[in-house]
Amino acid sequence: MAIIASNFKTNHTRKSTASFINEVATFVEENNIDNEIFIFPPSTALDSFEISSNIKIGAQNAYATQKGSFTGEIGTSQLDEFGIKTILIGHSERRHVLNESQSEIAKKYSFYKELGYTIVYCIGEPLEVKQSGLEKTLEYIYEQFEGIDTNYENLILAYEPVWAIGTGVTATNDDIKNVHSAIKEKIDKPLLYGGSVKVNNVNEICSIEGVDGALIGTASWIADDFKQIIENTKDL
Ligand code: PGA
Repeated sequence: MAIIASNFKTNHTRKSTASFINEVATFVEENNIDNEIFIFPPSTALDSFEISSNIKIGAQNAYATQKGSFTGEIGTSQLDEFGIKTILIGHSERRHVLNESQSEIAKKYSFYKELGYTIVYCIGEPLEVKQSGLEKTLEYIYEQFEGIDTNYENLILAYEPVWAIGTGVTATNDDIKNVHSAIKEKIDKPLLYGGSVKVNNVNEICSIEGVDGALIGTASWIADDFKQIIENTKDL
């Protein structure tokens, strides 16, 4: 059973998110899909949705606080309003565009772990690291586990090479297999691949040994495409 996640990033409005989620939920119900599905809308579009239990709505980001004075951030009181118990932590855009440090990420991770959230924790190397070989790539990735309790029961990992995110360049099957099998040897948790996963390669990618599903940005933002992605992975 594949885990399929859609990361909206800074796309969709409150209104379009609601219609996307309702459409996907109807599809999942009518087709008896048992994939585990995650949808991460922007924080302004979070809400309580009537959806089956195998679809979870998560936050793309939140601060390590219940409430307080952290201008521009949200905390658990805003997430509790909608019963949200899933969060994405360590995404490459948070690390590299928003400059979140490993220690901030680790602090956030510990906070949400204590509260029992399902955490989708992202790791992945930039292009220059990839170009210096598999050993260096793995070294870089292992540093992204600093301060992270990898035994946490509600942890899902996502390997997302930075050079493959939003670029249209998917990692090769061999790249994915090598990194996934190395991580899996150390950490026994579900491990998704992310980075330019598309409607027509999602099945192949999710069939690679050591790949438990996909975290998808661009190719998942149109409801029909996301439904097709679910359809293409429903028998795995
Ligand atoms: P992408 O993004 O599918 O657009 O490459 C993946 C992600 O950032 O999670």
